[in-house]
Parts: sequence; C-alpha cells; structure tokens
Amino acid sequence: MAEPRNRYSGVSLALHWIIAFAILTQVLLITVRDNIDGPMARELLIIHKSVGMSILVLTLARIGWRLAHPAIPLPASTPRWEKLAARATHVLLYVVLIAMPMTGWLAASAGGRDLSWFGVFDWPLMPIGGGREAAGRFMDLHGIVMKGLYVLIALHVLAALKHQFINRDNVLHRMIPLIPRRP
Ligand code: HEM
Ligand code: HEM
Repeated sequence: MAEPRNRYSGVSLALHWIIAFAILTQVLLITVRDNIDGPMARELLIIHKSVGMSILVLTLARIGWRLAHPAIPLPASTPRWEKLAARATHVLLYVVLIAMPMTGWLAASAGGRDLSWFGVFDWPLMPIGGGREAAGRFMDLHGIVMKGLYVLIALHVLAALKHQFINRDNVLHRMIPLIPRRP
C-alpha cells in the first residue's frame, strides 16, 4: 500500500527512534563498562552484544520496510546537492548500522565466544575461525566504523536542525510529529 506522501508511517517512525535510542544505549553501556570491573562489566557486555544484534535485525526490517514504502520527497525547493547529500548520508547510515553489529558478530565468531541474546538463546557463530588475532582485527574495525557513525549522526542531526531553524520547513516535524506542523 502506498504511504501518504507527507508523513511517515508509525512503523517507520518507531523503527527510526527505537534504533536511534538503541545506538545511544550502546554508547552508554560501553562507557559505563569501561569504568567498572568484575561481573557487572561482563553483564553489560552481554547486554551490549544483545542490543547490537537486535539493531542488526531491526535495521534489516527497516530496510525491507523502506524498500516497500517509497520515501517522502524533500520540499520542492531543496537544492539538488542537498537531496543528493541527504540520500548519501541515509544510505551510509544504513550501511554503518549493519557494519557495526556485523563486525561485532564476526569478532565473536572468530574468537569462538558465545553470543547470547539476553540469555534467551545463542546466535549461531559464523564458521570463520581466526582466533584472538582475527577477533582483535574485527574489534579494531568495530571502533573505526563507530567513528564513521559518529560523523554521520553529527551531519544528520545538523541537517535536521538546519531544516527546523534555517529552512523552517516540516522535515523535522515529520520525524518528530510532536513538533507542531508549520503552515
Ligand atoms: C543514531 C541516531 C540516528 C540514526 C541512526 C538515524 C538514521 C536515519 C536514517 C537512516 C534516515 C533515513 C530514512 C529513509 O530511509 O529515508 C533518517 C531520517 C531522518 N532522521 Fe534520523 N537518525 C538518527 C537520529 C536522528 C535525530 C536525533 C534526529 C533529529 C534531531 C533525526 C531526524 C531525522 C529526520 C528529520 C529524518 C527524515 C529525513 C527526511 O524525511 O528526508 N534522526 N534517520
Ligand atoms: C549497532 C550496534 C553496535 C554499536 C553502536 C556498538 C558500539 C560499540 C562501541 C562504541 C564500542 C567501543 C569501541 C572502542 O572503544 O573502540 C564497542 C565495543 C565493543 N563491542 Fe560493540 N557495538 C555494536 C554492536 C556490537 C555487537 C553485535 C557485538 C558482539 C556481537 C559487539 C561487541 C563489542 C565488544 C566485544 C566491544 C569491546 C568492549 C570492551 O572491550 O569494553 N558490539 N561497541
């Protein structure tokens, strides 16, 4: 079914904000973990991995949903370069939202670590081997990809603020319907 052209469906909004808050949770979990020791640190890492694998599933669902539901066009007055920049940032965000959990999953697989989902079940490990050394390289990649994600999120949020306070259009309203719609 085609979506109304001026608003996102509840599913799109829910997926956008659940994933955004999950990313924030990931950063907070790791920050806290880096400052504590003992069994609590292990628990936080299990939660980090579980939330990370959930982000992978939610992102795949989101991409599927997005392919089935056409994007809402940006306001007609948006310059071509801005449309291209928005497109590129969104595609890269999806790529990174997959690359983050994938590098974690690959590291766990290479290291032969259990990959529990909140203690409910274990994700299968990929048959890649490589041991601690390969796991370390995937973890290095995990950190590097995260830097890319920080840059993309910064650009993304700045663009949203530019729409709200400089262009003064309804782009932010359609992702945060609580913000009043402009006439
Ligand atoms: C980790 C944080 C975030 C991630 C990963 C993320 C990711 C994305 C992605 C991938 C899209 C593209 C949707 C599509 O397929 O067309 C999108 C759209 C959007 N995001 Fe975010 N986002 C995040 C945080 C935020 C925040 C904090 C804001 C507001 C300040 C925001 C505002 C928007 C808006 C307004 C759109 C719609 C753009 C349009 O309609 O063309 N996002 N976001
Ligand atoms: C979108 C999902 C994820 C995000 C945003 C994320 C984010 C992060 C960040 C920011 C760090 C700290 C990196 C550094 O200090 O260089 C980290 C570390 C780590 N992540 Fe993730 N991660 C995600 C998914 C996963 C998954 C799925 C796994 C495992 C299956 C995982 C396993 C780890 C491990 C083992 C560490 C090292 C922890 C430590 O030594 O304290 N992550 N992650």
